[in-house]
Amino acid sequence: MREKKGRKVRRPVIAGNWKMNKSLAEAEELASGLKERLKDFDDADVVLCVPSLYVESVANLLSDSRIGVGAQNLYWEEKGAFTGEISATMLKSVGCEYVIVGHSERRQYFRETNQDVNRKAKAALTAGLTPILCVGEVLREREDGRTEDVVSKQVVESLEGMTEEEMLSTVIAYEPVWAIGTGKTATPEQANEVHELIRKLLAQRHGAEVAENVRILYGGSVKPGNVYGLMQEPDIDGGLVGGASLDAGSFEKIVRFERQGP
Ligand code: 13P
Repeated sequence: MREKKGRKVRRPVIAGNWKMNKSLAEAEELASGLKERLKDFDDADVVLCVPSLYVESVANLLSDSRIGVGAQNLYWEEKGAFTGEISATMLKSVGCEYVIVGHSERRQYFRETNQDVNRKAKAALTAGLTPILCVGEVLREREDGRTEDVVSKQVVESLEGMTEEEMLSTVIAYEPVWAIGTGKTATPEQANEVHELIRKLLAQRHGAEVAENVRILYGGSVKPGNVYGLMQEPDIDGGLVGGASLDAGSFEKIVRFERQGP
């Protein structure tokens, strides 16, 4: 398929994060459009992370396709008096397969800590969901030369206590916060540098098998015009796509990561 600067090629994951967008009718239209456009496609794991409210209908609609469905958050307790929250087992029971945990918007607006993210990832794994665990520095941290420290701390604390088996069922997403929704993408080299750091940490803390096999996605203004370059990097195994996943045409181009014009 692709040449990757002489390194192991892991099966890519391309996940759309719809965030808080779309009515139910629009969500169903987008999901069916993608099902049709991608019916011949099997070169990557494609996932739609939709608002929790739509997980069931989108999962039903995609049940006879290869596209997976994910949520964007969960609560770590299994059940009980936690008004307004949704558990991993609830998500699983309506056809959910993946769940984003620790997205920077949740860290920023809902004060999620690495410890919260760790509990959420473990709850997801216990219920049989694949967590897509996000890390990434804000602009000030990058400008102050603290990217490595910040991302390392997030990785170490968010993955604390996970077994090798759990790690192999986890997807990590590096999303530099300054590149989210801003149109500023990290260059492929900038992104790969952090992916490489994450992989080194995985090797130190969880062993070579985990480091070799865990898929690390890049997120932050991924578009049809830049996905090809990003995907050439040896440690970038896919993308977590926000804005450009809200349109079937642009998401299809990203999923196929064909070389595009600017
Ligand atoms: P954008 O692709 O809109 O920059 O969003 C990235 C993101 O936050 C995906 O989780």
